[in-house]
Amino acid sequence: MKIIVLAGGLSTERDVSLTSAAGICKTLLERGHDAFLLDVFLGLPYDSSRLEEVFTLPDHGLGISANIGTEEPDLEAIKASRPDQSDCFLGPNVIELCRMADITFLGLHGGEGENGKLQATFDLLGIRYTGPNSLGCALAMDKGVTKQIFLQSGVETPNGTWLFKKDKNTSLADLGLELPLVIKPCAGGSSIGVYIVKTEEEYDNALKNSFRYGDEVVLEAYIKGREFACGIIDGEALPPIEIIPKSGWFDYANKYQANATEEVCPADIPAETAERMKEITVRAYRALKLDVYSRADFILDAEGNLYCLEVNTLPGMTAASLLPKEAKAVGIEYGELCELIIQKSLE
Ligand code: DAL
Ligand code: MG
Repeated sequence: MKIIVLAGGLSTERDVSLTSAAGICKTLLERGHDAFLLDVFLGLPYDSSRLEEVFTLPDHGLGISANIGTEEPDLEAIKASRPDQSDCFLGPNVIELCRMADITFLGLHGGEGENGKLQATFDLLGIRYTGPNSLGCALAMDKGVTKQIFLQSGVETPNGTWLFKKDKNTSLADLGLELPLVIKPCAGGSSIGVYIVKTEEEYDNALKNSFRYGDEVVLEAYIKGREFACGIIDGEALPPIEIIPKSGWFDYANKYQANATEEVCPADIPAETAERMKEITVRAYRALKLDVYSRADFILDAEGNLYCLEVNTLPGMTAASLLPKEAKAVGIEYGELCELIIQKSLE
């Protein structure tokens, strides 16, 4: 198959995306596909008369760095390095190239690649892509909308609400919340801009910092407990995985630094708890109108209550990511997982 693997973009998860996409492209090439890695903005320096060549380039563009730094990427510097320094998400030739492929594998995370806009654009253009539909992506990428849907549809989630920057002086009492809280950007990912706050002073700082990533934040009750994730493919939940950071919680550094976190799959929890987590994952997936695949994130408190935090519609796909590890626990190797995602996306 001719497959474009889209990577990059101007989101805080750009580096994660480059790493996921490089892994996806590499395995698809090894499996005999005509796969090509394409930066979603940069496109290719080829004029349209030479587009066919992209499928026969010897290195298939795999010369990109595939290391995630412990620091967030400098998005302003990336933007400044673009030929026209624009905010345009889709670069020259990208649509033409994607049209020529049998499918575009979305190796993107966060921002415009995961919030449904790219998916809707591709729908209008008749371009096949991997992962959930545009509405599901839009609902799930907005943590405020997700919260409302979860609360209304009985998906267990920490009590919470959202706040626009212009309303930042609203008191916690008026929001119906009390400390400790978790504050996070409404449309973020990889725990960037997420703060656990226990005091008034921490609250003010966290609010200010979280608003650096957008004009809306979500505030939710802090639940102390163990962290888990549960992937889902075509409506069937995978075995839950437990995430055990060696210190602190599963923040950006613990997510991407080598050996900072231990992951256990299948998770060491009672079968009843695992079944309940899988069942909530399916309900969350349905409530958010998702399809193909995604991954729900959970906290399990000391009383055995499960809380679904969110659903990631383009979950991390580095070989070391959570979803590939869950798939492996049921005998689906990384390359097979990529093939399965393509197959389910084309159905
Ligand atoms: N947003 C990151 C990539 C994840 O959920 O895995
Ligand atoms: Mg997320």
